[in-house]
Amino acid sequence: MTTVLGIETSCDETAAAVVDNGTDIRSSVVSSQVDLHARFGGVVPEIASRAHAELVSGVVAEALVEAGTDFGDLDAVAACHGPGLAGALLVGVSAAKALALTLDIPYVGVNHLEAHLHAAWLEDPTVELPLAVLIVSGGHTMVVIVEGDARYRLLGQTVDDAAGEAFDKVARYLGLGYPGGPVIDRLALGGDPGAVAFPRPMRGAGYDFSFSGLKTAVINHVRRHPDAEVHDLAASFQEAVVDVLVEKLVAAADAAGARTLVIGGGVAANSRLRTRVMEAAEESGRRALLPRLALCTDNGAMIAATAWWRLEADGPTDLSAGAYPSLTL
Ligand code: KG4
Ligand code: ZN
Repeated sequence: MTTVLGIETSCDETAAAVVDNGTDIRSSVVSSQVDLHARFGGVVPEIASRAHAELVSGVVAEALVEAGTDFGDLDAVAACHGPGLAGALLVGVSAAKALALTLDIPYVGVNHLEAHLHAAWLEDPTVELPLAVLIVSGGHTMVVIVEGDARYRLLGQTVDDAAGEAFDKVARYLGLGYPGGPVIDRLALGGDPGAVAFPRPMRGAGYDFSFSGLKTAVINHVRRHPDAEVHDLAASFQEAVVDVLVEKLVAAADAAGARTLVIGGGVAANSRLRTRVMEAAEESGRRALLPRLALCTDNGAMIAATAWWRLEADGPTDLSAGAYPSLTL
């Protein structure tokens, strides 16, 4: 058995988890900094790195206690080393390297995007490849085909705002607070998705996305109709985003002959997206692999799980490696 401690500090969650053999989650602790950043309407990098530095030891200790284990039982320690905020990443990377050095066990640097992708795999490690995967978070929107272990083909990505970023910006404009995704998701439940015909950007035009114009369309609509009903706005905006996301995921699956639709990243927690992906899978005789909610947003379990696969495939990461803010898949 291989027991891995995974640390995640790339953005505004300080998280740690203990995972056995890449699949068995023994603990997963997430300390969200949302309250610290909320009054600024978004993540403030300097505040994030300081908070990570203060929180990381306690979060790691809690993950070990929750797993009923301690440092001596760990076989490897991993941290997310990119992409993300430079100062924030460095906190997790430094903590993991220090532990690896002290405990004389391997260190593994993990790609955050690969980890979001693995979160769905955690639900079923035996799933048949290829997979059509939609990674939708606050910083990324991409459609990827997974052809084999660590073999990814990026089909398309956003040319401007990420999907989560669009949720956050629209929510901020509507005065709904940060992060915007969960609030819009909740409000949309009581709204009519057909109330406002917002544009479906880049529909039918390959696998790239664009959400900046949609955000502007919402702002312009509210300027013209200041008394617009917020539930209807939320539902109509969300429907436009989800329409485009699902359409491109299915098109990618068609092109690659993928029999499984997979989503990952914070926006994968969106209830409407989850329903629509399940419906799309059913309609096309496919399977939908949706990570449980706690594995959608940033967490340490996805880091520990990915590290286990990476350790098997490539061995440990050298301690001289750093943090990589603009790492790609
Ligand atoms: O993966 P994540 O935790 O961090 C990044 O890697 O960016 O994703 C955070 C993003 C935020 O933009 C947040 O608004 C969005 O995920 N999000 C959601 C929902 N929950 C989180 N968006 C839509 N619906 C949700 N339920
Ligand atoms: Zn993320």
